[in-house]
Amino acid sequence: MKVIICKNYDEIARKATSMVIQEIKKNPQLNIGLATGSSPLGLYKNLIDAYKNNEISFSGVTSYNLDEYIGIDRSHPQSYYRFMFENLFKHIDIKPENIHLPNNDLTQIDHIANDYNQILHENPLDLQILGIGSNGHIGFNEPGTPLESETFIVTLDEQTRKDNSRFFKSIEEVPQYAITMGIKNIMYSKKIILIASGKEKAKAIHKMITGKITKEFPASILQLHPDCTIILDHESASQLS
Ligand code: GLP
Repeated sequence: MKVIICKNYDEIARKATSMVIQEIKKNPQLNIGLATGSSPLGLYKNLIDAYKNNEISFSGVTSYNLDEYIGIDRSHPQSYYRFMFENLFKHIDIKPENIHLPNNDLTQIDHIANDYNQILHENPLDLQILGIGSNGHIGFNEPGTPLESETFIVTLDEQTRKDNSRFFKSIEEVPQYAITMGIKNIMYSKKIILIASGKEKAKAIHKMITGKITKEFPASILQLHPDCTIILDHESASQLS
């Protein structure tokens, strides 16, 4: 694991942006795994600016999102589908047919996980962007998820629902289920960049980097990845010695 400590969130976003731009320039047909949440927002904003300044094009890039809630429609303001369109896709030249988000259609619940997994097998990821949950989840791989897991339907942890309730009117509105890439899918990506800022993430970052590798703390598996960069600010890095 390579750890980069930045002075603040803007610097994290700038660092992540330059790494992503470098990968797209190296391979304009990049298969990129994308995350939602507040952590990658600065990165997405900078990527939009880089596109508008003609620095990069997404016309050959294909995206695969990590996860999606189940139980809310794609048009819901808090769906990850909406999040990605509002915060990135509608502002750049990525081709609509190159955008992949896990399907959350309840009428197709018996095969959506397998379908998405198949797509991931056929299109290996070159780069995966990650955030981390305060309980150590990556994507929606909650504590206890087998480290060999592939795309599946997950029952969300109470801690995750509590953490994400800030985006909803109340915790009751936070979906109980989601579809997520598994840990194995994430680990197959050639390169991984994980972004974390703020003191709320300090304990999780410490455990991820220095703790034992265990399914009880899914992000700890990243210690085994051959090309994983963790970009932090001083607050999220504050428990590292
Ligand atoms: C969410 C997402 C994760 C994300 C994490 C952290 O629940 N499923 O993919 O990385 O929680 O979110 P944030 O960046 O808002 O702290």
